[in-house]
Amino acid sequence: MTRPRRQPARRRGVGLRRDTVLATLPVAVAAVIGAAGPTAADTTGAPGAGDPYFPLSGNGGYHVRHYDLTLRYDTSSRHLDGEAVLTARATQNLSRFDLDLQGLKVSGVTVDGAPAAFRRVGQELVVTSRHTLRTGRNFRVTVAYNGTPKPVTDPDGSTDGWIPTDDGAFVAGEPQGAMTWFPANNHPKDKASYDFTITVPQGRTAVANGDLLAQRTTHGRTTFRWRETQPMASYLATATIGNFEVEQYTTRDGIHVYNAVDPREASAAAPVLKQLPSVLAWESKLFGPYPYRSAGSIVDHAPDTGYALETQTRPLYDSAPDLNTLVHENTHQWFGDSVSLTSWKDIWLNEGFATYTEWLYAEQHGGDSAQKTFDADYARPASDPLWAYPPGDPGSGKNIFGTPVYVRAAMTLHELRKAVGDGDFFRILRAWTAGHRDGHGTTAQFVRLAEGTSGKRLAGLFHTWLYARGKPNSA
Ligand code: TRP
Ligand code: ZN
Repeated sequence: MTRPRRQPARRRGVGLRRDTVLATLPVAVAAVIGAAGPTAADTTGAPGAGDPYFPLSGNGGYHVRHYDLTLRYDTSSRHLDGEAVLTARATQNLSRFDLDLQGLKVSGVTVDGAPAAFRRVGQELVVTSRHTLRTGRNFRVTVAYNGTPKPVTDPDGSTDGWIPTDDGAFVAGEPQGAMTWFPANNHPKDKASYDFTITVPQGRTAVANGDLLAQRTTHGRTTFRWRETQPMASYLATATIGNFEVEQYTTRDGIHVYNAVDPREASAAAPVLKQLPSVLAWESKLFGPYPYRSAGSIVDHAPDTGYALETQTRPLYDSAPDLNTLVHENTHQWFGDSVSLTSWKDIWLNEGFATYTEWLYAEQHGGDSAQKTFDADYARPASDPLWAYPPGDPGSGKNIFGTPVYVRAAMTLHELRKAVGDGDFFRILRAWTAGHRDGHGTTAQFVRLAEGTSGKRLAGLFHTWLYARGKPNSA
């Protein structure tokens, strides 16, 4: 479970930084060196995006605009052949930058068509381009790679990434696993559009995000082409492969639905999947228009996985979901997918909203009121894991999927709703999804929005429910 983590400080310490050098030199000499242009040290992209919980996730110095992934997977040998073409933009002068890639073998890297030097250091694929890429420059990186993908083990002991199944692979990348199957700027800060071309043995289906553009079978293999045009965080990308029954239709609201269901889960899944259009319509009333053109479900049979994931446009389930799970994962399309995290510390913005929506769904469909659900959770003793740490500050990557992040964060939203009233509460949610659509949101921005919309001071409420240690006193 404990994978050795390299210290980011080690790599960053390589070579002297130019500002250090300049500080120790006479002014005239420093000016000459300065005029000579950037040195290696300050044209190196950082190995991480600055996330305190996952210091090596993502990278500095560039933004990826588009991933074009071509994959071929042999479901019996479990061998993956991949080519990734990344279209990116330099955000600083770059002579060297990192991608994240865990495992697999890299056979070649090019930058703007020219072969580039590369080396592997843990999960960092370090690329040195022939010429320094100037700030603002668009560039294209290709990476050819292959091997047997293996999932990563997360700090909390769960696995994510490319998870082989008996008939294909369950591909779920939260929080880290995208790098187990494609080279990426692997942090939700950097969203991009995606093209997927996935070739699998005939009879198997490959399901990714967005729209299915084409499906063609030749010589015993089928190639699926998928496209997600709206910005997507790498952890929300999937290329799940299996034996699937496929169903496609368009809802009354014009959303294209693609459901892929493992036959072993089909009878249990059918009554729940049937509710998808009405769940999306109900959520759209609460949160504003569904943020994508496509929707659907991938219901796999992956008994060892133990979780579902809100893969963009098409949530992924390890078995037939219940209605709560369907509601939860589709809520994430607004909260988490369209409006994304800038730091894993803010994970309550994803899980608290998805959980609270389960409570609202019950309340509005003949089940318990949200207040009743709140009361039952609030009754848990001070020693209960629910109160182990505050949801706004889980402390480490180990805690990002713990009970406080789901339940106490949902309780936070219930407290907010009571404080501002239903009118303002739902106005806040809709302003949030509209104002940050296809982008990002932080806790501080949410608090400011809630205060601005309601005209109330809410710092105390958020402090008590998001940040204070231990069980909050009853309001
Ligand atoms: N985000 C998922 C959900 O609640 C849960 C999840 C994804 C998860 N990856 C995980 C939970 C890894 C534990 C471990 O919808
Ligand atoms: Zn969730």
